[in-house]
Order: sequence, then C-alpha cells, then structure tokens
Amino acid sequence: MKKHTTTLAVSMIALAASVTASQADKLTFYCSAQEDWCQLMARSFEEATGIDVNMTRKSSGETFAQIRAEATNPKGDVWWGGTGDPHLQAAEEGLTMEYVSPMRDELHDWAIAQAESAGNRTIGIYSGALGYGYNTELLASNNLPEPACWEDLLKPEYKGHVQMANPNSSGTAYTTLASMVQIFGEDEGFEFMKGLHANINQYTKSGSAPIRAAGRGENTIGIVFMHDAVAQAVAGFPIQVVAPCEGTGYEIGSMSIIEGARNEEEAKKFYDWALSADSQNLALQVNAFQVPSNKGAQTSDKAPDMSMIKLIDYDFVKYGSSDERKRLLQKWDEDVSTLPQ
Ligand code: F6P
Repeated sequence: MKKHTTTLAVSMIALAASVTASQADKLTFYCSAQEDWCQLMARSFEEATGIDVNMTRKSSGETFAQIRAEATNPKGDVWWGGTGDPHLQAAEEGLTMEYVSPMRDELHDWAIAQAESAGNRTIGIYSGALGYGYNTELLASNNLPEPACWEDLLKPEYKGHVQMANPNSSGTAYTTLASMVQIFGEDEGFEFMKGLHANINQYTKSGSAPIRAAGRGENTIGIVFMHDAVAQAVAGFPIQVVAPCEGTGYEIGSMSIIEGARNEEEAKKFYDWALSADSQNLALQVNAFQVPSNKGAQTSDKAPDMSMIKLIDYDFVKYGSSDERKRLLQKWDEDVSTLPQ
C-alpha cells in the first residue's frame, strides 16, 4: 500500500512538471535573415526573457508561402527579417497582425513608413542596397573584364559565371527582378532578365548563396545585397563588391506578427525587443552589415555607405502589392525561366 502511494505521488509530481513545461512561455520564430544572425537573435531573446524560442530559417518568399499555407491553422508567431516586399504582401492578404510597438519612436522614418503603408502589420528593421560581388581570383584566371554595371552582366563572356537566387523563393532575387523593371522599364527589364538568364549557372533557393559560392571559389559573380558581399570580403575571401553604375534597388528588411499567433504576447515581446538598439547591435557580432532601423543602433563602418550608392526610388507599395508580386513572378516563370540556356 505504501509503495502504491509513493508511486502515485511520484507520477503526480511528474505530471505537474510536464504540465508546467508545456505551459512554459514559448515562441515560434520564422527568420529570413542570415542563419547565424537568426540563431543569435533566438538565443539572445531566450536569455533576455526566459521564453523558449523555436527558430526556423527560410528565405523570404518561402516563409511567405509557408505562412499563407498555414493561415487556417497558424504555427508561427513572429516573422523577423527578409525583404519587405513579401511582408507587405502578407499584410495586404491579412496574414499578419496589426501592432503598434511602443518602440516605434526610436526608429528611422523609412522603417515607420513601411509600417504605415501596411496598416501597421509590418515594420522596417534594417535596410540594404542590391548589387553584386565577384571573386577577383576567378575573374582574373578566366581573363574576364571587371564588371561595373548591370548591363555588363549580359556580356557573352560571362556565360556560366553568374549566379542569382530564384525570385519565387528569395526576396533578394525578387528585389533584383523588381529593380530591373524599375530601372529599365517593364519590357526592357524583362529583356535584361532574359539576357541574364543566358549567363546564369544556377538559380539558388537562398538570396545570399551565390556570393557564398563565389567566396568558396565555386562561382564567379553573385547578384546579392551588397552587405552579403561585404560579409564575404570581411571573412577574408577575395570578393569585390559592386554598386552597379545605372543605380540600384534596395530592401527594407521587415518584421511582422503572424495573424492568429498562438503565442501573441510572446510575439509582441519579441517585436518590441527586436526594435531596441541593443538587440539590433547584435548584428555586429555576426558580421551582418545591414543598416539598422533603430536610430540609436550602430551601423558597422564596413557596411556599404547608402549615401554613396545611386539608389532608385524603389516603389515598395507597388512591388510589395499582392497583384504585382504575383504578376511579376508568374511572368518571370513563364517568359524567363523556361528559356534554354
Ligand atoms: O543574408 C541576409 C539577407 O540578404 C537580408 O538582408 C535579406 O533580407 C535576406 O537575406 C533575404 O534573403 P532571401 O533572398 O534568401 O529571401
């Protein structure tokens, strides 16, 4: 009898412990910035709050597609990082939640403008200009000229030497497509993408993969955000960063809370925390060279100087709208990706 009572007491304690564990504060965090920054954000938030974080890193377009697929039964709580266009599309489609953070006054106007254009269903967390980078050793050993403009990338001698991501999965590559349409006009922009297609050796899933491959010597030119090319150069690889001569587009990396989030309070805590200068300064620990949205956060002196780059007036409202993003992606799928190489 005594043995039974003890066994019962032990199982009740175990049950109570498991109930407490399952009720522990937790957060399901979808991340679309670089992997090491995502990891650092997750672990630092856990340390700061005691909230358990389950983080998954996927590219911007992929995360958008996942959130849409999960809309009737949302599994994610907060989506941090990735280009702003799919965050804006998610906002328009009601996939993300309206929230005005008390931290907002600390942000640059461009970050707040992103929120205002989306009924406060998203907000800017960093910005960065598009460009490309090349491996100087591979360029020299292949006797290739140094490219300086977008148009240069169409030269036949670069055939098989250029890599970019697929604009369906990658926000970087969608920014490239939308930038070409804005720089050259729609018809010429698509002609550019077709010409580029002839020189592309691979469309990757993730936006920064082409420059990481260039760093490893497996690819010559990678079309990426300039900060991702700088990160390779800073890591010691022979990468030259290019701000294309015609001018270029840029991103407002964004953050959104998922509509119907199971852990809404934790998501709001993360959102406020992620807008603080201290948490944005974590970027410096992982060589993330984007420009932070908190006015008090530090921008690395190695970050591309946005004031020296010829930036186009990228129309985020138009190119982040559901109709336009769908239309451009479909047109790229049908008219560009199917062409022989
Ligand atoms: O690697 C970092 C980064 O370039 C971010 O600045 C950007 O928001 C994100 O990656 C885009 O990644 P992807 O192109 O894979 O969606």
